[in-house]
Amino acid sequence: MSAANTAVKFFRKLEPEDLRTLHVIEANMSRYRYVPEKTMPKLAELPEQETQYRLARLGRFKLVYRWTGSYKGYTLNTAGYDCLAINALVKAGILEAFGKPLGVGKEADVYDALTPENKRIAVKFHRLGRTSFRQTRRVRGYIAERRHVSWLYQSRLAAEKEFQALKLLYPHSIALPEPVSQNRHVVAMGMIEGAELAEHKELPNPSKTLEEVLSNIRKAYVNARVIHADLSEYNIIIMPNWHILIIDWPQFVTREHPNAEQLLRRDMKNIVGFFQRKYKVKTKLEDALNYVQTN
Ligand SMILES: Nc1ncnc2c1ncn2[C@@H]1O[C@H](COP(=O)(O)OP(=O)(O)OP(=O)(O)O)[C@@H](O)[C@H]1O
Ligand SMILES: [Mg+2]
Repeated sequence: MSAANTAVKFFRKLEPEDLRTLHVIEANMSRYRYVPEKTMPKLAELPEQETQYRLARLGRFKLVYRWTGSYKGYTLNTAGYDCLAINALVKAGILEAFGKPLGVGKEADVYDALTPENKRIAVKFHRLGRTSFRQTRRVRGYIAERRHVSWLYQSRLAAEKEFQALKLLYPHSIALPEPVSQNRHVVAMGMIEGAELAEHKELPNPSKTLEEVLSNIRKAYVNARVIHADLSEYNIIIMPNWHILIIDWPQFVTREHPNAEQLLRRDMKNIVGFFQRKYKVKTKLEDALNYVQTN
């Protein structure tokens, strides 16, 4: 069961005292590797017995991890952090209910969900820095000072960046999901139907699809000064009407970034190369680059 599954399952069972206890652990995690059990009643403003009861419940729900060493202490599990973000989105009137998982992978879990107005949204839980600290540090170019909380920071940073990209780009009518909200490591956005370009066996008009992708890369570059920087056939969704949407923006850079040119070239190489390999659509990389960079 994925962490988000655990969070979705147990979130409904959480009582205000459970959430308060989770909050206290979160707030003290940068100070302690394991938040000492002894300090918890005072921090949570709960009687000692009640605190014990809450910690035991949270442990049973697998939302916290209990460590026993020279003292007893607690740290948030991924699912515990998920619950805090879900709670904030519910309280903000963004989120009402969860549906099925849309994509569960290495760097994110994405869920189908409903708002209180019954609008369908996608809820993306960012997952970074937990399994392979060194690799994510290299890839994301982000150096965490405190290793034990780096997954919290890195995942939150990715969500903040992705939401920022959606907000920057959406007003320019670029084909991407509508930004709805963000809290901690979670982004809520418009729900889209379709499947990754990589999954499609065929397209009715591949060169038209490529044109549409390039025209959106161009709009992002020219009008919003933004480069995706992780573009490939896996981050392009083909909708049932065969139009495209570009997803997965946490690694975006602006044109001011020192490697902007290189990153744009890499994105374009991936796309032009993919259409050449799979659909025999021949486009010169330099021509395509020229097109996306001019008004
Ligand atoms: N707004 C959305 N609406 C519907 N489905 C979505 C949405 N965003 C993402 N998905 C689904 O979730 C999958 C993963 O999303 P995304 O590419 O943004 O994350 P990722 O960081 O690549 O995650 P992973 O490492 O798990 O592949 C997508 O391929 C898509 O199937
Ligand atoms: Mg992706």
